[in-house]
Amino acid sequence: MNLDVILTPAELPRLSRQDLRGTSCVVFDVLRATSTFVTALNNGAAAIIPVSEISEALEIKKKCPRVLTAGERHGVKIRTKGKEFDFGNSPREFAPEKVKGRTIVSTTTNGTRALRACARAKMVLAASFLNLNATANFLPRSRCENILLICAGTGDNTALEDVLAAGALCEALAKGKMPMELSDSARVALAAFQQSKRNLARALCESQNARRLLAIPELRDDVKFCLRRDVFNLVARMRGGKITIFRR
Ligand code: MLT
Repeated sequence: MNLDVILTPAELPRLSRQDLRGTSCVVFDVLRATSTFVTALNNGAAAIIPVSEISEALEIKKKCPRVLTAGERHGVKIRTKGKEFDFGNSPREFAPEKVKGRTIVSTTTNGTRALRACARAKMVLAASFLNLNATANFLPRSRCENILLICAGTGDNTALEDVLAAGALCEALAKGKMPMELSDSARVALAAFQQSKRNLARALCESQNARRLLAIPELRDDVKFCLRRDVFNLVARMRGGKITIFRR
């Protein structure tokens, strides 16, 4: 199996030219989109619909009024046409009593765009530190010749937390039974993780996104929440534009 990593969102446009029919794409937006989606699914949400634009979310809400709206711009909950979305993008908002059995449409700055960018792939998974081992255990059985890890990033820049999560997954896969051919980008992510793993939390809290969230009193606890390892034993798969639990 070939294992490659997209380290920065600036590389996403190349996906539209790439043949992804034999590829499993795994999208990381550790702070916070994919961590939030995995948490909502663990708490009983039926599905997450990731979209790029606010207008798309409103269109879906108009067609399906039961759908809940979620999303952020500049980290805060979206407010449009004088109305606030039902949720922002903090995983701590998606409590079981609020999301059980519900479908949620979400638009975020980077995470939902990265998920949309790889929609043509044979398989698309949403991953985070919260469900990393479940994802690592499942991937070798995805019967794809290529695995492409996608770091959603921050704005147009690389996000350290996504690269370290991708590196952790590279290490788990490289240790597995299935022989893995790592690209140089995968080796960069692996090396970054192995250098930081002895004090991962400290390395992660130095990231641009972590420092941004830690500076916002009502969002600072999201950092600790999203950096927990393997608290959800689930694989989250996007199919037909919807993310649902694929394996628990
Ligand atoms: C994103 O998608 O850009 C991030 O998840 C944004 C955030 O949560 O603040």
